[in-house]
Amino acid sequence: MKRVNLKGKSLLTLNDMTDAEVTHLLDLARTLKARKGLGVRGQSLRNKNIALIFEKSSTRTRCAFICAANDEGGHAEYLDVHDIHIGRKESIADSARVLGRFFDGIAFRGYKQTTVELLARYSGIPVWNALTDDWHPTQVLADLLTVQDSLGGLKGLKVVYVGDGRNNVANSLMMGCARAGMHFVNCTPEALSPAEDLCKIASSLASASGGSVSVITDPRTAVRGANVVYTDVWVSMGEEAKFAERLALLRPYQVNMDLMRATGNLESGKLIFLHCLPAFHDHKTDVTREIGPMEVTDDVFEAPFSKVFDEAENRLHTIKAVMVATLGCEEEGA
Ligand code: CP
Ligand code: NVA
Repeated sequence: MKRVNLKGKSLLTLNDMTDAEVTHLLDLARTLKARKGLGVRGQSLRNKNIALIFEKSSTRTRCAFICAANDEGGHAEYLDVHDIHIGRKESIADSARVLGRFFDGIAFRGYKQTTVELLARYSGIPVWNALTDDWHPTQVLADLLTVQDSLGGLKGLKVVYVGDGRNNVANSLMMGCARAGMHFVNCTPEALSPAEDLCKIASSLASASGGSVSVITDPRTAVRGANVVYTDVWVSMGEEAKFAERLALLRPYQVNMDLMRATGNLESGKLIFLHCLPAFHDHKTDVTREIGPMEVTDDVFEAPFSKVFDEAENRLHTIKAVMVATLGCEEEGA
């Protein structure tokens, strides 16, 4: 079998990777996770400088890049776009060419997918999409690792995403599940349906891997037989003006115990709940203090079948795998 070699590659969407490359990253993440679990610090990112260019807020992704680099002897430098010239006093292409001479890899989180594409085109070093309006590929690597860890595999499992069906997480999850031979259902109101061209690409990936992709509007029908119920916020970063509209559209799509029971799998041990986080599951945030839980209720979020914090931890191991593999450091410090 051909050895997977990701050296020099960027990760802008999951479409940039083959099925074998995704599998390889998950295997590498599992190895790195086990190594960290044993308390062994590696040196595979020794002398590597990583730039983190962030336009949008982040807890998990930012910290995952920083801790992953530290764990393996590298250094990550956080660059808030407001503190550097990119896109204002200097074009993205020029900043990319400068940063490419200083750093070994760049993670970018922000609005436009074209920004991360320009960074990749002009920097000459691996660039990783840490979330844009359209995609969140590193999230889905962690999601797939969490499903493997919790349910023992991926192929043939049914994943139902309930909520805003055309956001970055929904798009990436659809591609990831399709590649992994899973049965992916996007459950969303018609107004929030995923783009048709993306569904077509995902469907053809799924049919090649033995999976399937469908879009269903009725939540109770969609979740029947689900192994994974997944949701995300109803209003993504940058869409705050749509808050009232989304609340009205998505209230019937809240993941609550009633919906989890409708899977028919609650007692089977073959059902988990996932959420990329942050989640609006209680009254304890500025946003939910008055209105209460939004996309998921507290009893689901806190249930034993909820694997959201394993999923959050897996951001670290999978992001580490992406950096180690694409910087060509798999043989070093192992
Ligand atoms: N899931 C995720 O990307 O979290 P952050 O926004 O905290 O990075
Ligand atoms: N869809 C969410 C994901 C946050 C991790 C957003 O873009 O805000």
